[in-house]
Amino acid sequence: MSGRGHGTSIGIGLLGLGVVGSAVASAVISSRKNGSELNLRSALVRDPSRQRAVKLPQGTLVTDASAVLDSQNVDVVVELMGGEQPAFDYICRALSGGKHVVTANKEVISKHGEQLRELAAENGVSLQYEASVGGGIPIINPLLDDLAANEILGLRAIINGTTNYILTQMATGGASFEDALSDAQRLGYAEADPTADVDAFDAVYKISILARLAFGVSVPFDVIYREGIRRTAAQDFRYADELGYTIKLLAAARREDGGLLVRVHPALVPANVPMAKVEGVLNVVEAEGDLVGPLWFQGRGAGAEPTASAVMGDVRRAAAVLRDGGSVPQARPIDPDLSLLAMAEHECKYYVRLTVRDSPGVLAQIAGALGDLDISIASVLQMDADPERGSADLVIMTHPAREANMQRAVERIDALGVVDTVANLIRVESYPDDR
Ligand code: NAP
Ligand code: HSE
Repeated sequence: MSGRGHGTSIGIGLLGLGVVGSAVASAVISSRKNGSELNLRSALVRDPSRQRAVKLPQGTLVTDASAVLDSQNVDVVVELMGGEQPAFDYICRALSGGKHVVTANKEVISKHGEQLRELAAENGVSLQYEASVGGGIPIINPLLDDLAANEILGLRAIINGTTNYILTQMATGGASFEDALSDAQRLGYAEADPTADVDAFDAVYKISILARLAFGVSVPFDVIYREGIRRTAAQDFRYADELGYTIKLLAAARREDGGLLVRVHPALVPANVPMAKVEGVLNVVEAEGDLVGPLWFQGRGAGAEPTASAVMGDVRRAAAVLRDGGSVPQARPIDPDLSLLAMAEHECKYYVRLTVRDSPGVLAQIAGALGDLDISIASVLQMDADPERGSADLVIMTHPAREANMQRAVERIDALGVVDTVANLIRVESYPDDR
């Protein structure tokens, strides 16, 4: 990549001036006042009459994407619109036009990262996306650069702030899922349509990006096992607490015998491990490299300023390339020998919550269904009983079992006449010091 720019000025064009775009615009304007070469040339919005959190120089706000994408004065395009389209098309146009691109868009990078990386290379420009995972936490560049000499053995993360806020409210305040979600919406964490966060699409996009960079394997977002938090109920937290656990939405990718398993689902996490104490909208990524050992990246996973911090790091790297030449760190090549494992191969302990008839012989039938599939019971708790309905909540903890067997056992248990419902099945996350 060759140095360019306009004398002592490097032109920045923003696509989007919302929560993150406004904070990035402020940071660029402040850096200019402090003598930096960055110069905000234009910012694309839909509605120019909207009140903005930042005051821009006259004529900077535009509603025609060409004013950013085709401008000779723009060297670095910063995409902060969100969504797949038209963001993807705009990024393609910017790269094809020889502009460096910075984006915070996890959906676009998860779905089209490979194609965009190739397009950037063909055009001799950089594509960077540090803010697409973990908000302000530096995790993409450490994986690309500082940890490049390592074989990454595993990643385990809380990478969605909205769901971590909801689960924390349920764990610490005894809130129902619905109340915690309303609270998250009132505070501006969750959107009016919370699907992307609550049904774990957001976390799946993010872990697919991290897995590509950490393991050199292309992980299409739609093959990743995905389970959101809608089934997680207030009583699951009470019962988990009695058993010494809390509940987190985990995103994990780990090398196992025969391949790489990538999964996103709620999990029982032992109350005494550090991850159990990552609360509210905080995010964390645990990484383990063969050389470096375990690492821990924690911080604010969303919000205007933390996200702008990550975006500005990328902008400054692009500016350095324009000024001095060189390149930004590149994704490791695809490893043709590493294949993706199906969730059916996963093995862990399970928490099963059932509502059953409160009568003799019930447990024997359930134990039989589990035993037939090689699943051994570790403990059974009879929790809330409803004498009027003659039913009770039963919580079964199993020893490690194969996912495929557990799913078949749940089907059989659900069909038993003495079982009203298998209300929840939560995987128990294993930790090295887990007793
Ligand atoms: P936002 O507040 O909704 O802002 C989006 C901006 O893009 C708005 O200025 C909007 O214009 C503009 N825009 C959207 N579609 C457009 C179109 N078709 N044409 C022209 N302008 C358009 O979003 P955000 O929260 O800043 O998020 C931006 C990106 O950062 C997303 O990819 C998001 O996933 C990512 N991100 C956000 C956070 C966070 O905490 N918010 C954290 C990490 C990553 P108007 O203002 O005129 O409507
Ligand atoms: N909606 C995301 C979250 C923030 O709740 O973590 C942007 O990545």
